[in-house]
Amino acid sequence: MGTRDTRAFERRLEEAWWPALRDRYPEPPGDSGGWDADQRRHAMMHHPVPAPDAVVVDYPAHMHVNLLSRARGCGLGRLLVQRWLDHARGSRVTGVHIAANRSNAGALAFWPRLGFKPLHDLADAQPSRHIWLGRKIAFEPQP
Ligand SMILES: CC(C)(COP(=O)(O)OP(=O)(O)OC[C@H]1O[C@@H](n2cnc3c(N)ncnc32)[C@H](O)[C@@H]1OP(=O)(O)O)[C@@H](O)C(=O)NCCC(=O)NCCS
Repeated sequence: MGTRDTRAFERRLEEAWWPALRDRYPEPPGDSGGWDADQRRHAMMHHPVPAPDAVVVDYPAHMHVNLLSRARGCGLGRLLVQRWLDHARGSRVTGVHIAANRSNAGALAFWPRLGFKPLHDLADAQPSRHIWLGRKIAFEPQP
């Protein structure tokens, strides 16, 4: 799944999603080193990290793919991304980015197979546990 406009999506999260989730899942106490995966997610709801401006300017769309383990490794990820890219191309989206956790070796192997390139030069000024990758999307100009 994805969005054509990352900044509009971030605004919508602030308006329509984060307030209720913040009420339901308070900020975890103590040091982040002792948090479990749920608590790290709760902290993220209170302090979401926006995509770097330098990434969004050329890659304004973003996407995610998370398959159940039994659905992985048989071409479904590639099919879904290609389908999404076709849809985005039809909507005249010019570039899409993804953020992968630095420790997610599977994702870091997968995205380059789909034409995504690391955006170190654009994103490394903002230290993060993510690696940003992007792909330009070419579309045929209308006559
Ligand atoms: C990462 C993910 C989306 C890949 O989808 P998938 O259906 O398993 O991948 P595909 O079968 O379509 O593989 C496409 C290509 O990527 C490669 N690839 C996919 N997963 C890989 C892995 N874990 N290690 C190495 N290569 C991998 C495949 O070998 C294939 O290469 P090819 O072009 O040579 O054929 C899926 O495994 C997933 O949902 N993982 C858990 C969630 C996650 O990490 N999401 C990404 C967060 S950024």
